[in-house]
Amino acid sequence: MNVLNHIAIIMDGNGRWAKLQNQKRTFGHKKGAEIVRKLTIHSSNIGLKYLTLYAFSTENWKRPKYEVDFLMKLLDSYLKKELVAYLENNVRFNVIGDISKFSQKLQKTIEKTIEKTSSCNGLTQTLAINYGSKDEIIRAIKKIKDIDNIDEKSFEKLLDTSDMPPVDMLIRTGGEQRISNFLLWQIAYAELFFTKTLWPDFTENELDNIIEKFKNISRRFGGI
Ligand code: IPE
Ligand code: IPE
Ligand code: MG
Repeated sequence: MNVLNHIAIIMDGNGRWAKLQNQKRTFGHKKGAEIVRKLTIHSSNIGLKYLTLYAFSTENWKRPKYEVDFLMKLLDSYLKKELVAYLENNVRFNVIGDISKFSQKLQKTIEKTIEKTSSCNGLTQTLAINYGSKDEIIRAIKKIKDIDNIDEKSFEKLLDTSDMPPVDMLIRTGGEQRISNFLLWQIAYAELFFTKTLWPDFTENELDNIIEKFKNISRRFGGI
């Protein structure tokens, strides 16, 4: 049976979910944040070590200003509200992506949450925010000191995910079968799962079912 350390999720479908209920897209994001909370606690309860969630891409700045502003505010209030739950559940909070583009206030909230949960050693919940895999790779290239001696291992140390194990499984909700610039390097050998379920409808039970499927896949990594 496959060992599962690291699940990454492209949480897609908030806007369509809201539209189906004749609500604004922002209503879907609010509900989406509740699902993040629920799935994080569940992941922690089942003993998962790393859960990495795509919350805001480098491309998502293209959205209308009110939606971007809403997402920024939601993130700030989510982190403030969530601190107690992180600590109670022994969850370490982390981010990947270039947070220097965010407001000083939001950067402070992010840094404070990282710091206050830094000694938690259960699940590591990583939010990918202002994250784009191409951007991450370019930022990593700029950090290379000795180009002649760079190899896969040393290059990985320059990525935002340097302190994480490889992604075992990538899930995308919302029905699209694309990667949308998420963890391109890190999913080299991940098992991919696509579900039509919109993120606000995603449940612990569906996650458990996907994990069951994952466990029985023959992962050969190029071997036989
Ligand atoms: C994913 O849901 C959340 C973010 C990208 C912030 P969407 O907002 O992309 O929802 P759909 O795909 O339009 O339904
Ligand atoms: C991917 O969803 C990004 C996040 C979930 C944060 P998008 O809705 O932005 O992706 P596309 O535009 O459908 O590829
Ligand atoms: Mg989408």
